[in-house]
Amino acid sequence: MAYLKPDKPEKVYVPALRAAKEKGEKLVCLTAYDYPTARIVDEAGVDIILVGDSIGNVIHGYGNTLPVSIDEILSATKAVKRGASRALIVADMPYGSYHAGENKAVRNALKLMKYGGAEAIKLEGGSNRVELVKRLVNEEIPVVAHIGLTPQSVHKLGGYRVQGKTEEDARRLIDDAKRLEDAGAFAIVLELVPREVAEVITNDLSISTIGIGAGSACDIQVLVLHDLIGFTFGRQPRFVRQYANVSDVIGEAITKWMDDVRQGVYPSEAESYGLPNDVDLEKIKNALPF
Ligand code: KIV
Repeated sequence: MAYLKPDKPEKVYVPALRAAKEKGEKLVCLTAYDYPTARIVDEAGVDIILVGDSIGNVIHGYGNTLPVSIDEILSATKAVKRGASRALIVADMPYGSYHAGENKAVRNALKLMKYGGAEAIKLEGGSNRVELVKRLVNEEIPVVAHIGLTPQSVHKLGGYRVQGKTEEDARRLIDDAKRLEDAGAFAIVLELVPREVAEVITNDLSISTIGIGAGSACDIQVLVLHDLIGFTFGRQPRFVRQYANVSDVIGEAITKWMDDVRQGVYPSEAESYGLPNDVDLEKIKNALPF
């Protein structure tokens, strides 16, 4: 297939991110939630697959990420694991799965790693998550942190807005990023933050920044696959660059198939099966009781 990248066969593990940062090499991350998209994303050469809680928006149609359960992420992670052989697989900790005590958070993270095949987990929050990140890292669970716009706090934040626009907020983001690095996170998602703030954080930290709506200075860029391929509904944020229109491709294919069925040209003889020559159809018909 045209998109295959056989020149990048080596499996991506956590240390590869630091090595890439040191060399100034940009990495790429996309979401996937199922076997076929994981295969396509992995075979295209994407370095990191995020089984994001954006599954709530783009797959389940919940409207936000809050209703996503640990079992939904676990099931998606298992499917992604079966489809991906090279990319590092990061599973999102959904809302409620790490908010009710460290032990419960550790158990849920272990579930994603042990039964889902995740190689790291991601959770949202700043300085309020520092102790939890330390604990998870201490239990051999690699952690990606996530600051800026944290969609699980949509009600507290009052919408999906750019974060860190005042001096005080920008300073807090920079401080949170440093504290999360010190706690042991190996990468940090910066979502919807001014590019200047993302650049300061990227230059200050030795762990990788993963930007979404955070400008080009970040070490890694991430997008929701369904946004990139035009398989979502409604208005997109301005950081999304849509490279295909899969919704149209699917809609057109369905329309053509319906037309063919209605005109009697699908299925053709070649698309159906005949009786073997030695089976006598007349005999079968004559034997029928009606
Ligand atoms: O769930 C998700 O897809 C994410 C990315 C937007 C970073 O958290």
